[in-house]
Amino acid sequence: MYSEYIFMPMQWRAAACVALLLAARPGAAAESASLAPANWDQGLRLAEAHDRNPDPKIVEIDLTARIADVEVGNNHSVRAWTYDGSLPGPLIRAHVGDRVIVHFTNDLPQPTTVHWHGVRVPIEMDGVPDVSQPEVKTGETFTYDFTVRDAGLYWYHPHVMSAAQVGFGLYGALLVEDPDDGVGIADQLTLVLSDIGFDSHGVLDSPDTGGSAGTVFGREGLYVLANGKILPTIRARSGAPQRWRIVNAARSRFFYLDLDGQTFTVIGSDGGLQERAETKDTLLVTPGERMDVIVSPTGPAGGTLTLQAALYNRGYGSVENRVPENVLTIAFSDDPPLPKQPLPDVHREIVPPSLAGATHVDMVLTLPPLAATGKSEFQVNGAPFWKARPFLAKVGETQIWTVKNDTKWAHPIHLHGFFFLPLDEHLQPIRPMAWKDTLDVPMEGTIRFVVVFDERPGMWMFHCHILDHADGGLMGHVHLQPGAPE
Ligand code: C2O
Ligand code: CU
Repeated sequence: MYSEYIFMPMQWRAAACVALLLAARPGAAAESASLAPANWDQGLRLAEAHDRNPDPKIVEIDLTARIADVEVGNNHSVRAWTYDGSLPGPLIRAHVGDRVIVHFTNDLPQPTTVHWHGVRVPIEMDGVPDVSQPEVKTGETFTYDFTVRDAGLYWYHPHVMSAAQVGFGLYGALLVEDPDDGVGIADQLTLVLSDIGFDSHGVLDSPDTGGSAGTVFGREGLYVLANGKILPTIRARSGAPQRWRIVNAARSRFFYLDLDGQTFTVIGSDGGLQERAETKDTLLVTPGERMDVIVSPTGPAGGTLTLQAALYNRGYGSVENRVPENVLTIAFSDDPPLPKQPLPDVHREIVPPSLAGATHVDMVLTLPPLAATGKSEFQVNGAPFWKARPFLAKVGETQIWTVKNDTKWAHPIHLHGFFFLPLDEHLQPIRPMAWKDTLDVPMEGTIRFVVVFDERPGMWMFHCHILDHADGGLMGHVHLQPGAPE
């Protein structure tokens, strides 16, 4: 293993030192006791991966991709593509700094790989066929082995025919916990949001329904799932805070969450805790993104509350003739409501990278009409991924990306392997600052971010996480070359 520290750019090293100081401060992170009713989360508790390594610093698991019949609730069962027979795949828990070893077996009828979305892995562990590793063919195995450097919620999914395979059910959460994060809320839920489409016999929808129009829109499954269940119920004591770690693992669907008008206190995002907490009425989680939030649902004893996915305009087809979807029900226990609890003062020192000498990289996303084939293809700077040349970067280089969306659909852009910091039009960090690996570029909108390429050379992908768009051309590579920038 290489050293993870000495290659860090200066500003990250400073941030790491501050983080160490904060972690060491006395009295930090006294974990509070549970305030939730017994078995409050049993309606949607995730299966957990079994760590077979006694070393407390190593999480070593077996993971098999295979087809399985799964119950999704409401008397529906689907013959899904799964990890270890569960939908979503098992929750993998690690602590920041742990080594994670995954002995992966492919028992699917197609080749696959596992990509560790958001984790700063070496390129050999990134799960991209031909770049990182050969495809894992039916009956074959591959061992993933990497260190989880950053606390946060991550997730895993295939990178072979990803729109189809993710749509079929292949995804799971990887939670990297920092026991000293200072949040101190005992009642925690990892919430994997997705959707799936199948017929009355439990047979999955064909991955190319709707043809070219389906690709341009981004296919959504009919059934919205929370931890693999249709409208599951959690129990809560009115007023008691819960910490939800949310990932949107859907192939295309946006989740614009609305808790019946009650608020979400956002404390973190893709790359762990953010600069400071921020309270919101609605919470947008686009495909690939994660959100770390505190909710304190209130309601009468015995009453319920519904978490809904409200309508959100991500392009033509997303709001027309559509209605909000119910995601999960919160059922209040008979315990007397608690008065509003003070929320922890969550903050994190984030030192924005210096922009001095940064390289500017401009990208324009387009969807030209292609008269000849009658098919549409998404392009980045005039080329779909199969015709594109890689963007270039050097180890240690700071880049400012400006991504302009000239299409009438939104595109949540994901960069493999690196976190970036979103900037406004004056290139000032957007506050509160949060490390991201996936960021939505709204329809006809522009995003900007700064990224520092650390010591892991390789061919790193970026793509829209509406996986149909990625397959339809909206994908590219950054060739990160060893050696200092001039
Ligand atoms: Cu979730 Cu190529 O990524
Ligand atoms: Cu897109």
